[in-house]
Amino acid sequence: MSSKPILFSGMAPSADSLQIGNYIGALLQWKEMQQANDAIFCVVDLHAITVPQDPAGLPDHTRRTAAQYIAAGIDPTMSILFVQSHVSAHTELAWILNTITGFGEASRMTQFKDKAAKQGTEAASLGLFAYPTLMAADILLYDTNVVPVGDDQKQHIELTRDLANRFNSRFGETFVIPEAIIMKETARIYDLQNPESKMSKTSASDSGVVWMMDEPSKTAKKIRSAVTDDDREIRFDRGAKPGVSNLLTILSAFTGTSVELLEQRFAGRGYGDLKGEVADAVVSTFEPIRSRALELLDDPSELDRILAVNAERAEAIAQPMLAKVYDRVGLLPRVRR
Ligand code: TRP
Repeated sequence: MSSKPILFSGMAPSADSLQIGNYIGALLQWKEMQQANDAIFCVVDLHAITVPQDPAGLPDHTRRTAAQYIAAGIDPTMSILFVQSHVSAHTELAWILNTITGFGEASRMTQFKDKAAKQGTEAASLGLFAYPTLMAADILLYDTNVVPVGDDQKQHIELTRDLANRFNSRFGETFVIPEAIIMKETARIYDLQNPESKMSKTSASDSGVVWMMDEPSKTAKKIRSAVTDDDREIRFDRGAKPGVSNLLTILSAFTGTSVELLEQRFAGRGYGDLKGEVADAVVSTFEPIRSRALELLDDPSELDRILAVNAERAEAIAQPMLAKVYDRVGLLPRVRR
């Protein structure tokens, strides 16, 4: 056992491709964090199906998401990279956590309220309601110390901590209390065509979303057609200049240059220059990632083998934890014969 902190994070396989926000807000930082932590990355397919998914498309989305993790630098021999549904302890622990979660407590989760409102509250499933307890199970099975997430997930981590503490005080010390690492605000990327709203895998129009798996020429074209504004100044001002600010944020993330420095460098220059540099920076980063992901997807049985090995590694940690939880709760052990 190493003495590094244990890190757990995940993303749902809800599309063919991750987008630029997933890259900057998650993958890029995960890749760095896997050095200093014992990292576990999960493709959360069971979370994906809390809203309707096409069964014919889901296996491919799951493989593609895993391939993009690897292509972007997640090392599946150092870190653990696995598919949530491959390790049944996740749903089993989620059930136990459901039994100590208050109905009112779960009702206060703002993501549930938002997603339920989007679908029409009558259509929202019990699975969507239980999304946060499944997420808590993901985290608590592995003695996780740190959980890097976007700020929209902060409330779920708070719930996870509450549930871990509650379980520990009712049934005896069992879970490590995890800490959220909230990924920085600069990671917030907005829709290129509608820079007031967050760029999202489920965005209405495709032209505002930069996908990691898009062809480079398409990506460059989208960036060059990004909505800006009528004056000519290149400066960061989210309120007055959301489009330009978004482009500066992207360029800063892809080049590691601060926004202030970029503002100085672009003083007196036009939007075309800015867009050109953003396009170059994004394309030169995504090109090799895309090629590597396509290569991995060309050999699905090898990819499935990597995922199988990693599911075993995850299960070797998760299953004993689940057994301990069952024991603490007082479930009669099944005798193996
Ligand atoms: N809910 C997270 C999101 O939408 C995804 C997720 C599922 C997750 N399980 C997790 C993140 C466990 C961190 C840890 O981004």
